[in-house]
Amino acid sequence: MASMSCEPEIAIVYSSVTGNTAELAGMLMECAQERWKNVRVFGPREFCREKITDFDAVMVGTYTWGSGEIPHDMRKVYRHFEASECKNVVTAVFGTGDSFFAEFCGGVDRFRDMLFVQTQLAAVLKVELSPEEREQSRCEKLIMAVGKKLPAEKVTVTHTI
Ligand SMILES: Cc1cc2nc3c(=O)[nH]c(=O)nc-3n(C[C@H](O)[C@H](O)[C@H](O)COP(=O)(O)O)c2cc1C
Repeated sequence: MASMSCEPEIAIVYSSVTGNTAELAGMLMECAQERWKNVRVFGPREFCREKITDFDAVMVGTYTWGSGEIPHDMRKVYRHFEASECKNVVTAVFGTGDSFFAEFCGGVDRFRDMLFVQTQLAAVLKVELSPEEREQSRCEKLIMAVGKKLPAEKVTVTHTI
């Protein structure tokens, strides 16, 4: 029997103050774990620049602060991607915001524009404040979009002879 497993390495890095983005990250993690074995979660401080290329896919989660800005703790993560050679890394960006503000989920938009240039951006997910049940299927779609962009050789191959 020959068995070759080349499971993709998946990371979720996010920040949250009042818990909305954390809740969304939790939903995404559950969906991701249904599909992949190796899913790790990081806070922005733990996710150093060198980590980016350790992963096949990175999902970045942010809330929005100021006037459509990326919050302070996530700016470091933004700069890590901006300064890295990571064109092969598949990414998605997700976040929560409040449409009361002029730039709804502006922090997500700023990440989206940079990740589109720097990485293989697969999906963007913006949620109004606290995620509701309907967000479940949106999370599943995001995970599917990420999966589709992963290289075919990362799919587990098992030969039983
Ligand atoms: C001072 C302040 C500024 C904010 N600015 C924006 C904004 O420009 N755009 C937006 O969509 N949401 C804005 N928000 C709303 C938060 O992004 C939103 O409540 C988010 O869900 C918080 O995420 P968290 O619960 O993960 O911390 C702002 C909130 C505060 C308190």
